[in-house]
Amino acid sequence: MNPEDVRTLASTQEPFAAVDVIRAKRDGARLTDEQIAWVVDAYTRGAVAEEQMAALAMAILLRGMDAAETARWTGAMIDSGERLSLRVARPTVDKHSTGGVGDKITLPLAPLVATCGAAVPQLSGRGLGHTGGTLDKLEAIPGWRAELSADEIARQLDDVGAVVCAATPTLAPADRKLYALRDVTATVESVPLIASSIMSKKIAEGAGGLVLDVKVGSGAFMKTAAQARELAGALVDIGAAHGVATTAVLTDMSAPLGSAVGNAVEVAEAVDVLRGGGPADVVELTVALAGEMLALAGLPEVDPAAVLASGEAHETWCRMIRAQGGDPGAALPRPRHTHVVEADGTGMLTALDAYAVGVAAWRLGAGRARREDPVQAAAGIRCLAKPGERVERGQPLLELHTDTPAAVPGALETLRGAWTFAERDDAPATTGEGIVLDVLRSN
Ligand code: URA
Repeated sequence: MNPEDVRTLASTQEPFAAVDVIRAKRDGARLTDEQIAWVVDAYTRGAVAEEQMAALAMAILLRGMDAAETARWTGAMIDSGERLSLRVARPTVDKHSTGGVGDKITLPLAPLVATCGAAVPQLSGRGLGHTGGTLDKLEAIPGWRAELSADEIARQLDDVGAVVCAATPTLAPADRKLYALRDVTATVESVPLIASSIMSKKIAEGAGGLVLDVKVGSGAFMKTAAQARELAGALVDIGAAHGVATTAVLTDMSAPLGSAVGNAVEVAEAVDVLRGGGPADVVELTVALAGEMLALAGLPEVDPAAVLASGEAHETWCRMIRAQGGDPGAALPRPRHTHVVEADGTGMLTALDAYAVGVAAWRLGAGRARREDPVQAAAGIRCLAKPGERVERGQPLLELHTDTPAAVPGALETLRGAWTFAERDDAPATTGEGIVLDVLRSN
């Protein structure tokens, strides 16, 4: 629809003119409930043009929205599509992460919380840029299928207690359109727009409780604790306004989580955790988030650490993978080429920059630049030393995996300066001392 048509339509058939809504926000006014409900709905059905919504998104980025406006905006985005109605006997609870490097926590967490007695309906996305996507990781498992119908989701939740699958296109379609627009108009970085985007999809999914893992640090969307705390507060406020018990957990993302970054390598690490092993930081965060989810589900007495150590959650994982066509026992794809990066100094590793490792893994083929690009299941990085560990010059530090050796020089260029050493062994590491930084609860 061209802008002339939009203006005519707005003046003849619509209760508001988009230009008035844009002007109001541009001049710092609060938008009314009616304006918000209309502009989101009209944008979804094409009666507000892309350039008008782009201008409004920029006005919101510059002027902000208060908690009530943000809650209403979220409600309008939910109303743009369907809400899943999850009729399951167990309490339902979900987790969302704002995205990080090596963040495979959903993989052990969903079967763990299901084993503990709650039902976890986790509708996930694919990766874009330096943070990986849960579906891309699971698709490294031979036969595993991401697309499920609403009936299949409900059946699996009843049978297994955990579903990780693709979000249906009918869930908050306004967000799908608006997120693509924000991506190309420098309006992603608005806390009310980020918070409403995340919460509209999660609330539409229908879980009774929601735990949000808000990452802080170089590998995260939010680089500082102050920004992350602001986002966490906005997320918890939206949950409270919509009657969904919500907890936000601020967690460290200055170094990659665990040792594996990529797709198949992260699945392998998640399976280690489910078998009672795996890196300490992945275990710590999985147990911390499970504890918060179980508290929201009314099961605070269950000890997720004990259940994880028992290996029972691994059985639930196998059932969850099989229910979606995957073979949990099948060999995972292996890279055609590996390249080892050796330590160029001796001493304690004090930092390993999450962002650099994430971008390098992406350049090796683990991630995509455009939504339609394929990913390499076997591409990624194994971090052979973590901050806080002592390393000797020449010791293997990182192992790069790819099917396209031509990608290695670009990845190495990205990794230049990504780690630091301290001469003295007692120099403080930037991470490793507790991954959970803070917790905010809606009730
Ligand atoms: N993730 C989302 O789902 N939406 C945003 O706006 C940013 C991150």
